[in-house]
Amino acid sequence: MPSLPELAHRTLFRTLSLLPPKGQGLVLRRYFDWWHRSPDPWKLSTDGYEQHKYRSTLEQLPPRPYRRIIEVGCAEGVFTQALAAAYPEAEITGVDVSERALERARARVPDDGGRVRFIQADILTHRAEHRFDLVFCSETLYYLGRHERLQRASAQLSGLLAPDGVLVAVHPWPEATRLHGYLDAHGSLARLTEQVYQTPPRPFAITIYGAKPA
Ligand SMILES: C[S@@+](CC[C@H](N)C(=O)[O-])C[C@H]1O[C@@H](n2cnc3c(N)ncnc32)[C@H](O)[C@@H]1O
Repeated sequence: MPSLPELAHRTLFRTLSLLPPKGQGLVLRRYFDWWHRSPDPWKLSTDGYEQHKYRSTLEQLPPRPYRRIIEVGCAEGVFTQALAAAYPEAEITGVDVSERALERARARVPDDGGRVRFIQADILTHRAEHRFDLVFCSETLYYLGRHERLQRASAQLSGLLAPDGVLVAVHPWPEATRLHGYLDAHGSLARLTEQVYQTPPRPFAITIYGAKPA
């Protein structure tokens, strides 16, 4: 049963998603720039629960020589930094709707000769230049609101995936059943694994997809 603050949170973002996608993106950008008015508002760099989630996510990844990685909703780059360390040969792109969060991400994670970059974009409208063999989306889908926007986000995420790529979604459990259900329903994705962690205070699921053969 979701808590009252969580219900209010989801209702707020569902209401925002009644706007056309461009308008929704503008409001999200303003909201998250405001939310990031002081550094690390979710304490992602210091909280033991968040660190455990990041470690568990890295452990769940199918072992492959990933070359191109994208993290959608990267905030201030805490997990992006872990990715850059775990895959020192990979090109890594962090995307977030908040430019203020990205300024801190750029300060946190050195660009390493252009290997790591951060782009301000809304996942609902972003057109990527190329496809990626590892796509992450963690703790972000519940901001996108209603049914149609989650379908659109799933199409956008699957559109980022290279033919033999892997997509990883991480969200609170049991809400992940609904959020990741949109990825399950997308015709081009095949679910590979799901691992549920009953970690207090907020259980979460890590769900991994591959691209279905055309
Ligand atoms: C809770 S943080 C998650 C950070 C990181 N993924 C993690 O799990 O530690 C959610 C981030 O999603 C970003 N975000 C929300 N809606 C977005 C959208 N439509 N497009 C891109 N980023 C978005 C917010 O700006 C915020 O930085």
